[in-house]
Amino acid sequence: MKLKTVTLQWTGESLVLVDQRKLPHIVEYVECKTYQEVARAIKDMIVRGAPAIGAVAAFGFVLGAKEFSKLGKEEFLSSMNLVHNTLASTRPTAVNLFWALERMNKKLDSISSSEELLKSLEEEAMRIAMEDIEINKAIGMHGQELLKDGDTVLTHCNAGALATVDYGTALGVIRAAVEKGKKIRAYVDETRPYLQGARLTAWELVQLGVESILITDNMAGWVMKQGKINAVIVGADRIAANGDVANKIGTYSVAVLAHKNKVPFYVAAPTSTIDIRIKDGGQIPIEERSHTEVTHLNGVRVAAEGVKVYNPAFDVTEHELVNAIITEKGILRPPYDQSIARLFSSEGKM
Ligand code: MRU
Repeated sequence: MKLKTVTLQWTGESLVLVDQRKLPHIVEYVECKTYQEVARAIKDMIVRGAPAIGAVAAFGFVLGAKEFSKLGKEEFLSSMNLVHNTLASTRPTAVNLFWALERMNKKLDSISSSEELLKSLEEEAMRIAMEDIEINKAIGMHGQELLKDGDTVLTHCNAGALATVDYGTALGVIRAAVEKGKKIRAYVDETRPYLQGARLTAWELVQLGVESILITDNMAGWVMKQGKINAVIVGADRIAANGDVANKIGTYSVAVLAHKNKVPFYVAAPTSTIDIRIKDGGQIPIEERSHTEVTHLNGVRVAAEGVKVYNPAFDVTEHELVNAIITEKGILRPPYDQSIARLFSSEGKM
C-alpha cells in the first residue's frame, strides 16, 4: 500500500514527511522508519496541524506493529501499549491524535495471525488518511456556501493542506469557494511565535493563486475595523461538547475582535476534532512550548536576556464568539451543546 500527498508519503515501509519547519524556503523531506522517529517528528513540528498529526500517528502505529510483529501475543500487546503511549505523549491539545490512535488500538482486538494484523493496521491508517481528504473536501463544500463572490477572509495559523493529509479545513473552504468560481481574497495573520501563517498559509495560498495579504497578528483588529474583512475562518485542535474551540494561540483575540467588529467568526474542522467527552474548553489541555520560540526569530535572539517567557501554543475561544462550526456533515449553529449532541446521537442527524 502506498500514498503520496503534500504532507506525507507512505511507502509501505516508512513514512516520508515534508519538513514543515523549513518551509517555505527549503522543501526537504524526512523519512521515518520507526514509531520513535514518527513521535519525534510530531513533537518537533516536522509535521503539525490536528488532522495531519492524527494520520501521521496512525502510520507510526503501523511502524511499531511491524517492529514487534514477531513477538508472542502478550509481549506484542505490551509493546503496542508502549507504541501508543509514545505517540500519544507528543502533543496534548489536538484531539485528532488520540482519536486516530484509538481507532488503531481497536484493530488490535480482533485479529488472529500477525500478517492479518499488519494488513488490517495498515489498511486502517490508509483509511484514516484517505478519509481525511474526503472530509476536508466536504467541509469545503459546506463552508463555501458561507462565502460570497468578492469576499475577503481572514485566517489565523495554518489550516491548509499541510495541516491535514491534503486540501485543508479553513483553507479548504477558501479553496472550495474559488473552485466554485468565486473571487476570494485572504488576509493571513503571521501567527507568532511559530509563524505558521507567514510561512505555511501564505505559501499555500500563493501556490493556489488566491490573492493573499500578510499581516502581523496585531494588525487584525485594525483591518477588521476598516471593513476589509467579510469573514474569519480558522481551524481547530479540539472542540468541546459546548462548542468552545481550542486553536492556535491568538485565535481567541481574533474572535473577540471579530465579535466587536461584527465580522462572522467560523471554525472549520472535521467531526474527529470534536471531543464530546469534554464538557467545556476549560478542560482542554493547553500545550506550552519552548521559550526560545518567543525569545528568538530564525535562531537569532531578539528578546532581552533575563526576561521570563510564557508560551502557550493554543488558546480557547468561547462558543459564544463562534458563529458557525463547519464540519464534513454540515454546518453546526448555536446552541452548540444541542447541535453537537444531535450530531453525535445515534441517528447522526443535524
Ligand atoms: O501548533 P500547530 O501548528 O500544530 O497548530 C495548528 C493549529 O492550531 C491549526 O489551526 C489546527 O490544528 C487546525 S489544522 C486543520
